[in-house]
Order: sequence, then C-alpha cells, then structure tokens
Amino acid sequence: MDTPNPPAYSADRLTGRTVIVTGAGSGIGRATALRLAREGARVAALDVVPVGLEGLAAAAAADDTVGGRITTGPVDISDEQSVVAAVGGAVAALGGLDAVVNAAAIHYGDHTHEATLARWQRLIDVNLTGTFLMTRESIPPLLESEHGGVVVNFSSTSAFFAHPYMAAYSATKGAIMSFTHAIALEYADRGLRAVSLVPGGIETAITGATPQNLPADVDWNKFAKLMPTLGRGRFGGPEDIAGVVAMLVSDDGRYITGTEIRVDGGTHM
Ligand SMILES: NC(=O)c1ccc[n+]([C@@H]2O[C@H](COP(=O)([O-])OP(=O)(O)OC[C@H]3O[C@@H](n4cnc5c(N)ncnc54)[C@H](O)[C@@H]3O)[C@@H](O)[C@H]2O)c1
Repeated sequence: MDTPNPPAYSADRLTGRTVIVTGAGSGIGRATALRLAREGARVAALDVVPVGLEGLAAAAAADDTVGGRITTGPVDISDEQSVVAAVGGAVAALGGLDAVVNAAAIHYGDHTHEATLARWQRLIDVNLTGTFLMTRESIPPLLESEHGGVVVNFSSTSAFFAHPYMAAYSATKGAIMSFTHAIALEYADRGLRAVSLVPGGIETAITGATPQNLPADVDWNKFAKLMPTLGRGRFGGPEDIAGVVAMLVSDDGRYITGTEIRVDGGTHM
C-alpha cells in the first residue's frame, strides 16, 4: 500500500535547508558538511581547530558541487559563551535553522582505576555538556523551521557494546543517547525530531590516534570483537556516516525520531 503523502524524490533534497555541523574540521563532521552542501543545504561548519576549518573551506572552494554553500566559524562546544555566540551568529547568517548535527567530540582512554578526575571531567565537558549546550541553543530556532527541526547527535557503539579502557568516553556516548531520547519526546508535538547516530569504527583522526590515546600496555586481544564484518576487516569511512546524516536531515527521515541508527558495517550483529 502506498504511503500517504510520500516525500518527493529529489537529487538535491536539502535545497533551501539550513544546517549547523560541529566537528566540521575533521572526519565525520567534515564529510557531513560537504555531503549536506552537495545535496543543496547551506551549512555553518563549526570547529575549535582553525586549521581543520581552513582545510574544509579549501576543499569546499575547489568543489563545484558544494556551490559555495559552506561557511566556517569557530566554536568551543564546552564553553557556554562560545556556543551562544556561534549558534547565534550562524542562525543570523543562515536566516534560520532546520537542523543541527553535533559531531564534535574528543576521545581517549585509561585504565579506569588510574583515570584522573580531570581526564574524566574533560570528556564529560566536551562530549556531553558540549552536545547539551549546542542542542539547547539550537532548539528555539529549530522550532521555527517550516520543515520540522532536526537534531542529530553522535552516540557510538561504545555506548551499547563493551569498549575496553574507554569507560569515560563510552559513558558520555550513552548519556548522549539518553539525552536525545528525552528531547525527542519533549518536542515531538512541535515537529522537532531528534536521533542518535551510532557509528562503529570509522577511519578518522579519532581512530588514527587511538593507539596513542590509550595506555601503552593495553591488551589488544580485548578489541577482537570491534572489527566490522563488511569491508574485509577495514573500518568504514566518514562518507558512510555522512550519507545517513543527510537522509536523517531530509524529508526521507521524517518518520524517524527518538531512536538510534547504528552504522557499523556489521560489527555487532
Ligand atoms: N571515528 C569513529 O570510529 C567513531 C565511532 C563512534 C562515534 N564517533 C563519533 O563521531 C563523531 C565524529 O568523530 P570523528 O571520528 O569524525 O572524529 P575527529 O577527531 O576526526 O573529529 C572531531 C572534531 O571535533 C572537533 N572538536 C573537538 N573538541 C571540540 C570542541 N570543544 N569544540 C568544537 N569542536 C571540537 C575536533 O577539532 C575535530 O575536528 C564524534 O562524536 C565521535 O565520538 C566516531
């Protein structure tokens, strides 16, 4: 049976949409900013590392399919004043907001019995509080979106399946999932959708630096269950996530809220 009122298919299904992407200077955030712009969205690409944003701006300028639809700007998502200024500036420049993609995060691990409070707290401040601050500041303009506002937050398979030495990081990613559930119900009657993306291993700066960011004496045998089934043992790429984010932000995702989408190449099945 046909779906009533099906969304029209379009190769540029995000034309006219306005999106903020954090963590846009690297990895998944960068690929997502480029993908959304290629599908027609105007994107405010934010990050705390200037050189990453310079790289994105250069890539965007060299790519005709991006069409000049990406602007870049600074934000430290762990800093309330920085978030207020960055979201306010982006919404003013874009003339509204249809979606926010909270990809920015940091990652490192410890033997949990040796983890300092400062290292625990920094992960909470950036990953969890940063996602909260970005979402809080984005909700008022998202509620004004004529398309129905969308929040895409980044959880991780580490929230659902054991990732050794990553107790603090994993805890932030589980909390982000819970946070996303709550706001999905809180604002559903006002047309806002909220979804958690759950990547498995994706080749980015985070995974590249994992050996240096874990204790030197980790037991790598404990990572045996964390490799994907697809891709002949290689991790996925940022584009494998970016296309799913584009779907969620578009009308193709219009019936998806209050849930998680796991994209892990069959690591956990
Ligand atoms: N790569 C993976 O295997 C994987 C797996 C599961 C979940 N994730 C999640 O996907 C998201 C994207 O990760 P990635 O792999 O692209 O990592 P990445 O390191 O390539 O990119 C993260 C970006 O966030 C930015 N950032 C860090 N702290 C910030 C701050 N305080 N304010 C603003 N920006 C800040 C960094 O500068 C960087 O550009 C993260 O939320 C990560 O936890 C990644």
